[in-house]
Amino acid sequence: MTKNILITGGAGYIGSHTVLQLLLGGFKAVVIDNLDNSSEIAIKRVTELAGDFGKNLVFHQLDLRNREALEQLFATSNFDAVIHFAGLKAVGESVEKPLLYYNNNIIGTINLLEVMAVHGCKKLVFSSSATVYGWPKEVPCTEDFPLCATNPYGRTKLFIEEICRDIYLSDSEWKVILLRYFNPVGAHPSGYIGEDPRGIPNNLMPFVQQVAVGRRPSLTVYGNDYSTKDGTGVRDYIHVVDLSDGHIAALRKLFESNIGVAQQLIFLFESNIGCEVYNLGTGKGTSVLEMVSAFEKASGKKIPLVMAGRRPGDAEVVYGSTVKAERELNWKAKYGIDEMCRDQWNWASKNPYGYGSPDSTE
Ligand code: NAD
Ligand code: UFG
Repeated sequence: MTKNILITGGAGYIGSHTVLQLLLGGFKAVVIDNLDNSSEIAIKRVTELAGDFGKNLVFHQLDLRNREALEQLFATSNFDAVIHFAGLKAVGESVEKPLLYYNNNIIGTINLLEVMAVHGCKKLVFSSSATVYGWPKEVPCTEDFPLCATNPYGRTKLFIEEICRDIYLSDSEWKVILLRYFNPVGAHPSGYIGEDPRGIPNNLMPFVQQVAVGRRPSLTVYGNDYSTKDGTGVRDYIHVVDLSDGHIAALRKLFESNIGVAQQLIFLFESNIGCEVYNLGTGKGTSVLEMVSAFEKASGKKIPLVMAGRRPGDAEVVYGSTVKAERELNWKAKYGIDEMCRDQWNWASKNPYGYGSPDSTE
């Protein structure tokens, strides 16, 4: 039977790509988003890209902190599982406005979990982050590394992970998968959906993209004195379509049965997963300069660089182990940095102002 999935934050960057993969994978998708950091145009484009499957997508503009509206939604629909992307994600802003981050991310999540519990929907995939590894002492990061948060945003991820572990301990009907993303980049190969951050981008590739289309004069490289191959920071960049497919793999894991045949008849489609965590990355480290060079090759554009000091709080080298996700989710990233940059440029060149117009962006 077709599974009906609720996707919070589904109009955003990773959410919109995942909704498309869900629809193409035969799922029904109900998206809720307050559009704080996204555009409804993304939803329209996902519907178009999904072709005949587009009819299986429903969108509600809704804030997770609006408990009444959330109750209303759950009272009128049956969800088989929830993928929870909704949240604020700018590290610097979280340092300046911690209460905003705790209010939005933590209270939003508690509302969601409470309403899910009341309505007996206890399957969840949550967007965590490699930020919970802090400044890792060694790489690749494995899921059992000690956890640490270095800013309020990171703390919201850490707290929500702990909340999920606690609700499972209190009620074993919960089945939760925490996905720790490394650095999502790129766009759908159609160039029709992609990342469209509001204001000045915080992250490397959205900034590079805006330099390439002439919206910014140069890229500031934060630190070239790290003990890395070329002195610049190293990260595990992952194509957003691979990342989206990781969510489908996680959902399948939640629905699959890995218990005995006799029990399967009783607990059909139930999996014995409790609260599990998986890294979603490629397992490869790439430096800032390597990424810029791959983007220049893909776009044919020169990216002027300004070398600057290290960005406070930045780790030197972060990349993840993919062994657990490969083994237990049967998922592995397919794309490398050349494809990431190709698709990022395809999106950027077709949509230099994202979903907006030159007047609607800074
Ligand atoms: P995004 O900002 O593009 O998407 C998040 C969406 O959530 C936005 O559409 C926003 O409008 C919505 N939203 C925020 N608060 C809401 C609320 N209270 N109610 C309803 N909707 C709300 O971000 P993204 O890059 O797609 O990230 C998705 C998730 O993945 C986030 O939780 C983020 O923290 C996490 N994550 C992202 C990265 C990254 O580098 N992009 C890395 C690790 C983890
Ligand atoms: N960088 C620059 N110039 C820029 C932006 C970034 O040189 O303008 C460098 C950074 O110093 C770092 C690398 O590019 O070495 C990657 O930086 P990002 O900001 O793109 O990514 P981070 O790994 O620092 O952090 C991101 C998200 C976090 C998330 C983490 C892991 O911002 O929220 O990925 O998923 F936790």
